[in-house]
Amino acid sequence: MNFVIAIDGPAASGKTTTAKEVAKKLNITYLDTGAMYRAFAYYVLSNSMDIEDEDVINGVVEKVKIELENVDGQIRVLLNKEDVSDRIRNEMISQAASKVSTYPKVREHLVKLQREVGEKYPLVAEGRDIGTVVFPKADLKFFFDCSVEERAKRRYREYLEKGMDIDIEKLKKEIIERDNRDRRRENAPLRMAEDAILIDTTNLSKEEQIDIVIQEAKKRKAGL
Ligand code: DC
Repeated sequence: MNFVIAIDGPAASGKTTTAKEVAKKLNITYLDTGAMYRAFAYYVLSNSMDIEDEDVINGVVEKVKIELENVDGQIRVLLNKEDVSDRIRNEMISQAASKVSTYPKVREHLVKLQREVGEKYPLVAEGRDIGTVVFPKADLKFFFDCSVEERAKRRYREYLEKGMDIDIEKLKKEIIERDNRDRRRENAPLRMAEDAILIDTTNLSKEEQIDIVIQEAKKRKAGL
């Protein structure tokens, strides 16, 4: 297997910002597994399927082609060849992704795709089950945590920058709801791998988060 850095943690804990930048600095591939669940959820909603109907959803899992492509240094999410990157970053899709991710067949299919990427390239992969299920033998594992207040603030600022205004209290509730679902599901729940390094990002800057991961990666690569 190629060199893999796994970053797991709850919603808006800093995984994406860190993983993207670490991938750039180490010149390795960035794998956003949440984007794959989001793209699948987008397919379900845009085809007016009943998200609660697991059988119907199981029936389309194999039909949906999800690819992540690097276009001029930006990761684009392709759903059946259509670029849906800008349409999957909102709270409706966040909740829907969390729901479809409880279905074992959906997970099985997406985990297979994720492992295929790991077969091809060294990578930084982020998600909920990377260190526990997708790449249990990853070279380096991190679990990011962060207070829910800070996570709501961060997500709120991201939405504002994109011109989306959303009530911060509502956002906080949605984050808590999603965390609970992701932690309590039976199949590959969000949890810290025993050999992961726990990082509380509540009081860390982006630069500090990135630096911690880079320093650990350098140590690991040097065999220390
Ligand atoms: O990381 P994110 O917010 O983009 O993920 C969206 C949802 O997808 C998340 O609430 C649960 C699901 N997910 C998962 O179950 N396993 C992963 N490895 C990544 C995401």
